[in-house]
Amino acid sequence: MASLIKITYISFLLSLLALCFLSNANASANHTSTLVVDGSKGSGRQIPDTFFGAFFEEINHAGAGGLWAEMVRNRGFEAGGANVPSNIYPWTIIGDESSILVSTDRTSCFERNKIALRMEVLCNAKSCPNNGVGISNPGFWGMNIEEGKTYRVIFHARALGPFDLKVSLVGDDGVSVASTQVGRDGSYAYKWTRMETTLEANATNHNSSLQITTNHRGVIWLDQVSAMPLDTHKGHGFRKDLFQMVANLKPKFFRFPGIFLSGCYVEGGYLRNAFRWKDSVGAWEERAGHFNDVWHYWTDDGFGFFEGLQFAEDVGALPVWVFNNGIGLHDAVDTSAVLPFVQEALDGIEFARGSPDSTWGSVRASMGHPQPFDLRFVAIGNEECGMPNYLGNYLKFYAAIKRSYPDIQIITNCDGSGQNLDMPADFYDFHIYTNAEDMFYKNTKFDAAPRSGPKAFVSEYAVWKDDARDGTLLSAVAEAAFLIGLERNSDLVHMVSYAPLFVNNNDRMWTPDAIVFNSHQHYGTPSYWNQQLFSESSGATWLNSTLQTSSTKLVASAIEFNNSEDNKTYIRIKAVNFGDDPENLKISINGLTSNVQKSGSKMMVLTAPNVMEENSFSEPNKIVPQHTLLLNANKDMDVTLPPYSVTSLDLLR
Ligand code: AHR
Repeated sequence: MASLIKITYISFLLSLLALCFLSNANASANHTSTLVVDGSKGSGRQIPDTFFGAFFEEINHAGAGGLWAEMVRNRGFEAGGANVPSNIYPWTIIGDESSILVSTDRTSCFERNKIALRMEVLCNAKSCPNNGVGISNPGFWGMNIEEGKTYRVIFHARALGPFDLKVSLVGDDGVSVASTQVGRDGSYAYKWTRMETTLEANATNHNSSLQITTNHRGVIWLDQVSAMPLDTHKGHGFRKDLFQMVANLKPKFFRFPGIFLSGCYVEGGYLRNAFRWKDSVGAWEERAGHFNDVWHYWTDDGFGFFEGLQFAEDVGALPVWVFNNGIGLHDAVDTSAVLPFVQEALDGIEFARGSPDSTWGSVRASMGHPQPFDLRFVAIGNEECGMPNYLGNYLKFYAAIKRSYPDIQIITNCDGSGQNLDMPADFYDFHIYTNAEDMFYKNTKFDAAPRSGPKAFVSEYAVWKDDARDGTLLSAVAEAAFLIGLERNSDLVHMVSYAPLFVNNNDRMWTPDAIVFNSHQHYGTPSYWNQQLFSESSGATWLNSTLQTSSTKLVASAIEFNNSEDNKTYIRIKAVNFGDDPENLKISINGLTSNVQKSGSKMMVLTAPNVMEENSFSEPNKIVPQHTLLLNANKDMDVTLPPYSVTSLDLLR
């Protein structure tokens, strides 16, 4: 059955490609439409360099258990709260009450996170079970351990006497894939001691756990236990495959809150649980971690402010820091009391770009980055416009930041697309989650928006709910039309990012998302691939074009861009067919001094036999752009657009 489906699908793709090459005589299209493009030199308008970016939020375990490669979950035993005894979830105990007693106390050597784990081992070499007793951590729905790869395990320990611990990575079949002995002979055991070891895996198991066991009677305390693969992006701690997925989108900015993350995460359900950047920098062992009460999980804050800035730099994007403005989802600081929050934000900016001699710049330098990060954009909160204290708080932040950092571009979350705003701002933030049809027709959303005020930053957009499920073709096609509209309005809309970026398939708090992953697999949804079709638009030239059509389901545009891979100049035509029938599109490019080149021109089509189809771990590439050479490339040419499709033609100049 599976192979029959595959064959059917392949024949669909072949017929699709044939369809695209055929002239309108061969397709049963409803209309014939014409896109007239002005390709003459100097007639276009430059799209801002920052146009396409990425939005990151600690939602769906995007960072903890995702992009951040730390494998141990609740590594400091703080997730159960500050009171003891506390829940040690997801740690479990190896052994029973006759052989080991496990509890928590407040004896940690780390000031900001006092909880430590106490193991009282009641058995010895003769009486303990064969594999010893101890504790086990399953990571985030299983640790991905791969044969030949090396993993660094660090933990802190103290004991009432000598200790000898076995550190192992154990597959879900109970078989150890790597292990080593770590111990102290007693001379150091009474003090907290940092222990570090590396383990090389002799087999692959995607659902492993970390076990720390012993068969020596005694009392041992453990704290801040970390297990990381050595093989992360540049050794910076980012999971390589997920890093690459973002990098392939060529994002020019990276919006993150609280310092690395954005969205509601930056607000917190209640302010006491909001992300605090100062708690997320410095040595990882010293980070308190916090409960993400918006998306309901604990994060150890390994992926903190510094790591957000580092990620942006590594991926070649400008960081956009969204910080808390003294407003949570359910509470708010009165404007008369907001100045300490303003100071937090100023300190955060100093951390990012102050000199290594400054108070907070020196902390950044001590973390290995003496050079300032290129922070040019900050957003004052997320989605609070209209709440009682927003305007008052905003104005305090705005004035203080502009006074100290006049060059920083400030983003309000009041929507200025309908009318001019009553507050100073460089950008206004615009979010849209809607159904597919509405998203398609929203391609004209900014056509009549005021031009005299701040620029627009569409920092969250996506089709959702029934039309989207977990990421359908239908969503991607509608979003493509919306993006074409944003490109057309890029004199006003300077930045755009899809949201959310990531989902760990084991914690779908929000769906759909651009990139789906588990411990060892990942794939892009059609919306992810749609973004790739637009990744060359940042800094490109938008070309004047007119679509002559009687169809209401067609949107098309043209840009000219320089392809950094071959350093050649292309005209890229993008066309969206949001209808049930194929559509014929005549393309006519005026003003070229010579014809486009057949050799080197190419076409990409994103479509599927059924609009509600999705990618999955078993079929990650079911809906991805199909690339072909464009042998009939011409400045006057016909193309047939399949039903529900995004077509992109790269015509080599
Ligand atoms: O992207 C998911 C959520 O949608 C974000 O947290 C919030 O900003 C928006 O409501």
